[in-house]
Amino acid sequence: MERILVEGGIPLMGRIRVKGAKNACLPMMAASLLTSESVILEDVPDLEDVRTMSRLLKALGVEVYHDRKNEKIFLNSRRLTTSTAPFGPVRRMRASFLVMGPLLAREGRSRVSFPGGCAIGTRPIDLHLKGLEVMGAQFTMDEGYIEAETPRLQGATVYLDYPSVGATENILMAAVLAEGTTVIENAAAEPEIVDLTNFLNSLGARIIGAGTPLIRVEGVTSLKGGRYRVIPDRIEAGTFMVAAAISGGDIILENVITEHLTAVIAKLQETGALIEEPRKGMLRVRSRGRPEPVDIKTLPYPGFPTDLQPQFMALLSLAHGTSVITETVFEKRYMHVAEIARMGAKIRIEERSAIVTGQQLLQGAVVRAPDLRGGAALVLAALAARGFSEIRGVSHIRRGYSRLAGRLRSLGGRVYILPS
Ligand code: EPZ
Repeated sequence: MERILVEGGIPLMGRIRVKGAKNACLPMMAASLLTSESVILEDVPDLEDVRTMSRLLKALGVEVYHDRKNEKIFLNSRRLTTSTAPFGPVRRMRASFLVMGPLLAREGRSRVSFPGGCAIGTRPIDLHLKGLEVMGAQFTMDEGYIEAETPRLQGATVYLDYPSVGATENILMAAVLAEGTTVIENAAAEPEIVDLTNFLNSLGARIIGAGTPLIRVEGVTSLKGGRYRVIPDRIEAGTFMVAAAISGGDIILENVITEHLTAVIAKLQETGALIEEPRKGMLRVRSRGRPEPVDIKTLPYPGFPTDLQPQFMALLSLAHGTSVITETVFEKRYMHVAEIARMGAKIRIEERSAIVTGQQLLQGAVVRAPDLRGGAALVLAALAARGFSEIRGVSHIRRGYSRLAGRLRSLGGRVYILPS
């Protein structure tokens, strides 16, 4: 298995362009099932998860051409050959479940393997199913597959017990072609939902309220094709911002939407980092030495994003004092704690909180990425640790970061991929 080798202690300096958002382009790829015309997505990062979604859509009969070099993807769902999403991709990537709503809307049926849990929790799909059921879908379970059928989805008022990102997206996509109007109450308000909505509206959908807890969709009979540029990835941006802070460096990020990073900028400034906006779409992050401790509570957007909790934990492991991190979105997103502890971090878990007692130094060690963002956190910790670290489980990192080692090297980092 590939490993990442990091020599710590080198401040990262220079410019980096943030790629398109994984969690915006994955639902958009699923949404291409809603139209029989061609769709071209731009600024699509070359990630393992994008390839998994491409394989899944091809298995459904979608024509997919992924121009990795130019970060574009061409999709055409004119001739779907099946409405069964195969086990493989769904097992590998929970976002595969996002084809459920579009397939139901387009074909009146869908059969999707039950998505497994993963390192950060059981991750049920009850809210997805409850919303689609209210819209007229009937479900049966069959050999680990969820089968859904409906003569025609009907617009309805759907209340989400929790502002689930995926459930909001599945219901939103189903509602686009449903008969009548759908209202989603307590909807997720993440920027990726707004981006998906802007994409769907550019194809002829009629959605208002995205980015607020109340989304209204007026069903239409069909969508046309189109071309759309994906928003920048706020989680990748946050990861590079922490890389500047934790390595004692000075990095300029290009292609950022500052408004999507309000909570992240505020928290990073609280740790003492210097953050400026030289011009729109650009952020400069400079370390001012050892970080100050801060308390963090992850929340649905616009609260602090759970996907940056592991990365901030790595930074706070070196703080001038004790920080309390409370993870409220996932029930056990702390698989990275034991691994950062191998580098000398002092972290104690108490129920949903992690008590991080900052240390002067971390030591390089051999560690294993437990999941995507935990893996990124280990790379960041290794950038600051003394000596060499080896991070295993690189496949997790490849799911959500395109060429992370090479891009950190372009900032002066001594980060290398070791062959298996
Ligand atoms: C999306 O996952 C993101 N993935 C996740 O990013 C992100 O961490 C998460 O939203 C929260 O922001 C994609 O967009 C592809 P949820 P999703 O449904 O949709 C519970 C990354 O690293 N829940 O908002 O799966 C669930 O168990 C990934 O890029 C239910 O109880 O997240 C969790 O505790 C990791 N029932 C909470 O809601 C449901 O039916 C949030 O889940 C659905 C969710």
